[in-house]
Amino acid sequence: MNTTEIRTALVTGADRGLGYCIVKELLAHGWRVFAGKYLEDYSLLDELAETNPELYPVKLDAKSGDDMKKVRDIIDAKVGKLDLIVSNAAIMGGDHTDDISSTTPLDTDTLAMFFQTNSYAAPLLVDTMLPLLRKSDYRRLFFTSSEISSVRLMRRTGGMRYAMTKTALNLGVRMIFNTLRPEGFTFRLYQPGWMKRMSADKSLAVHGIVDPADSAREAVRQILEDRIDEDRLVLVDYMGRELSY
Ligand SMILES: NC(=O)c1ccc[n+]([C@@H]2O[C@H](COP(=O)([O-])OP(=O)(O)OC[C@H]3O[C@@H](n4cnc5c(N)ncnc54)[C@H](OP(=O)(O)O)[C@@H]3O)[C@@H](O)[C@H]2O)c1
Repeated sequence: MNTTEIRTALVTGADRGLGYCIVKELLAHGWRVFAGKYLEDYSLLDELAETNPELYPVKLDAKSGDDMKKVRDIIDAKVGKLDLIVSNAAIMGGDHTDDISSTTPLDTDTLAMFFQTNSYAAPLLVDTMLPLLRKSDYRRLFFTSSEISSVRLMRRTGGMRYAMTKTALNLGVRMIFNTLRPEGFTFRLYQPGWMKRMSADKSLAVHGIVDPADSAREAVRQILEDRIDEDRLVLVDYMGRELSY
């Protein structure tokens, strides 16, 4: 079979949770998937690869431009083009070192790491993969955002670090959109819902209301569906509702 016949995706933060479930969903739709591995103690991707020959787990720290270049070279050698990026990796959580007026001081070192991972990794990844993306006629870019990225909707006081990084992600995506939409690139900005976190044995946390597998099914539905309004950059949630951002 000609290796360019199957569509090819790269998914970051794929060891578990939404990223892992998006990988599974794309495989089920017949895609070839390069899946970013980051966590040493998670083997879900390797186990999945045993029964899915079109799954290629690749080491990818979303903060690392060197990792991205290595992954680009791997995809280039294997396929020669890239149809879809799913930029999903993120650090979440807060420990009150990002709350104004808390007893602990604001932690600027951690802030920098959050921004590198949650905000700047997306444009870095797109820029690094651009030569391969330009060889595709599909050219679709998906970014996992959040409802807490919305300046208009924000009602919380705590967890400022994570929230700010997702707002910055949205702005980065807007600027990528401004640059690449004229070349035919299409964009998906996704709010996955409050998801249950996934452990190394695939069990799900009690907290959360959305199973990451359900959110991934909707994410991939939105990825695969062509829109009539591709010239608008919209934030859409796991129920298909457009959100303000
Ligand atoms: N969970 C929710 O309720 C929720 C709500 C709104 C939006 N989101 C967004 O949805 C996406 C997936 O969330 P999830 O619940 O599936 O989270 P998750 O289970 O924590 O999955 C995210 C993965 O990215 C990894 N990661 C962290 N830093 C990375 C790096 N530098 N390079 C590569 N991977 C890295 C995480 O590893 P570690 O575990 O080591 O951090 C984790 O494996 C994220 O973008 C998140 O911000 C989640």
